[in-house]
Amino acid sequence: MISFNENTQIFQLDTKKTSYCFGVYNDGFLMHLYWGEKLPVMGEFEQYILVQTKALSPQDNGLGGWSTNVARMEYPTHGGADLRRPAFQCTFDDGSAVPRLRYAGHKITDGKAVLNGMPCVYSEDGDKVQSLEIELVDKRKDLHVFLNYSVFEDYDVITRSVRVENKGPKCKIDACLSASVDLPEGRDFDFMHLDGCWARERHPQRTPIFCGTQTVDMKNGASGHYHNPFVCFPEHNADEDHGRVYSLGLLWSGEFVGGVQMDSYDTMRVFIGVNDFGFGYTLETGETFQSPEAALIYSNNGIGGMSRLWHKLTRERICRGKFRDIERYALINNWEATYFNFTVEKLSAIADRAKDIGLDLLVLDDGWFGIRNDDHTGLGDWFVNREKLPEGLDGLASEINKRGMKFGLWFEPEMISPKGCQLYEKHPDWALHINGLEGTLGRFQLTLDLSRDDVCDYIIEAVSNILNSANIEYVKWDMNRYMTEVGSDKLPQERQCEVKYRYMLGLYRVLETLTARFPNVLFESCASGGGRFDLGMLYYMPQTWSSDDTDAVERLYIQHGTSICYPYSSMGAHVSVCPNHQVGRVTPLKMRGNVALPGQFGFELDLAKMTEEELTEAKRQVEVYKEFGEVFHRGDLYRIDDPMTSDFASMNFVSEDKKRVVLFRHVIATHPSCRFKYTKLKGLEPEAIYVCRENGKQYSGAMLMNIGIAWNHKRDYESEMFVFEKK
Ligand code: GLA
Repeated sequence: MISFNENTQIFQLDTKKTSYCFGVYNDGFLMHLYWGEKLPVMGEFEQYILVQTKALSPQDNGLGGWSTNVARMEYPTHGGADLRRPAFQCTFDDGSAVPRLRYAGHKITDGKAVLNGMPCVYSEDGDKVQSLEIELVDKRKDLHVFLNYSVFEDYDVITRSVRVENKGPKCKIDACLSASVDLPEGRDFDFMHLDGCWARERHPQRTPIFCGTQTVDMKNGASGHYHNPFVCFPEHNADEDHGRVYSLGLLWSGEFVGGVQMDSYDTMRVFIGVNDFGFGYTLETGETFQSPEAALIYSNNGIGGMSRLWHKLTRERICRGKFRDIERYALINNWEATYFNFTVEKLSAIADRAKDIGLDLLVLDDGWFGIRNDDHTGLGDWFVNREKLPEGLDGLASEINKRGMKFGLWFEPEMISPKGCQLYEKHPDWALHINGLEGTLGRFQLTLDLSRDDVCDYIIEAVSNILNSANIEYVKWDMNRYMTEVGSDKLPQERQCEVKYRYMLGLYRVLETLTARFPNVLFESCASGGGRFDLGMLYYMPQTWSSDDTDAVERLYIQHGTSICYPYSSMGAHVSVCPNHQVGRVTPLKMRGNVALPGQFGFELDLAKMTEEELTEAKRQVEVYKEFGEVFHRGDLYRIDDPMTSDFASMNFVSEDKKRVVLFRHVIATHPSCRFKYTKLKGLEPEAIYVCRENGKQYSGAMLMNIGIAWNHKRDYESEMFVFEKK
């Protein structure tokens, strides 16, 4: 899987279908050579790249007149001949900021070590995984930079991360990206990313790459609603099913930067890592810095082919724990049903109906703790409000358990309310703050300083106490504001630029401890909906509340975009009431169900107010979910009609054993005398015969894929689900 040719000094990292090559040139320059379709035989340097000097490029000593400015570099730095965006940058004790990293050695090992204290792609017994560590050294300053690669052969994935060890005098890291790859022919490619905002997360954007730099980033402490730590680069003509696509995803829930710089010679430098804006990390002699991990996926089967690789990787080698491989709970959440105005009676009435329709779990959302009747007060005081819950959480959990259902609870542990909060009265300095500056409130709250160990310990104990106090089997872990005035009393002046990075390490410690301590609790992450939907969070919590927008049509866009990188098994998706609370739209219950079904399904409305007819439909949906959850969550997704560019949304799932196929199709907007429309399924066996459950007819896979299923749609929001079973 990983080979090194001593003669040519070339490394080749092979997955099942891809190769990734780089080499050591002229005693120390680490050059990127190739990433793409698998190469059966390794070549020599000149066979991979054009060695040519361009006028005016500074010439590196030792490079024989060649210039790193026109070369393809494996881990570029700034200050020498390469004038493009660096992956690594630091300032030394003498004020100089020119790291000169040269190859000093390497190690190839079987398997892969986990990253200490950070999320990472992990291997399991039987996986074909090998790792490579490249050591780069700045001899002048005795600074050692280790590039870590792992090859997950069967997953067609390469991971990369970087560790810096300072053996020389004190220095400050200014940038340390997790991955940077210089690829040729940038002019033929597009830059695609997932952007949005609150309640409109992860809409795909795609633009041609131009000469210059295009980036997406987050600067406020979370991976964010506005952009997502995932970037991909399809060829101009690549579509859902064909063409070459490069992609990079970051296992990190804090701020990031990802993007591409295309130089004047069409080389595109694609990169991803911790945002270097406002970042700095001081290394005393003997200290170490670890970057988060990036995963790299190349596919020549279009964007759909790339997505399926990300889905499998995320489901099987990023998500962990007991809930990774089992079907999770169909739940009812009281948020949109009651908001803060819940009572035990209201919750019991909802639970009665939830039981009738076969739901597994009731989640009590915000408002059960401290003084919390709206979002102005109470965060941080994680003790139960007995006025609202006279029998405590234990009493309420027993009420729910009596009905044969499980009980789950909402927390927002990373936050503190400056008003109406005992914790803030005792520890105002526990909030992130800059002395002498008034803190900016977000949703009336401040962010706790998780770069501090004592704050993290408080959260661990406060949440543990609650989880131990009642039979709580699910946690919704929310986070509802971005960071501002980021400063910590516990760190010296020169380390204030480390706070946001250290915050994430603190949060990851908290999550690692709690998820290990409560392995039978299902954790779902949330950040005002999908404000922290990233691969890092999914390492600790296998599902994320996709968006606060529960409207069926809006969800089609959000879930479509999310599925570009993330599997449906990671998307919390609930049926809510109409008119919809976010956009006022009225859609049929059937459509709302069909849109939510492939995700982690549930309801977010007052079941006690539903009519008998609606309850019958809701019950049917729960039954469908229980029957086909496994197809949606372990099978392969094929996107068919793209809701972003058409009036329709459709997709089919093919089960892992290839025996069951489920097709969903939705009409977003219809038009009079509309055109004939067929939905052509994907991913089937052409020769196999499939029986359609809905109409009893038999179809060959070839028919379904080439003729498709005709639509006779007449109304907006018509929505259908078809099941095909292989004979
Ligand atoms: C956030 C979440 C919602 C809900 C509220 C409660 O907005 O995304 O689902 O939990 O907080 O305040």
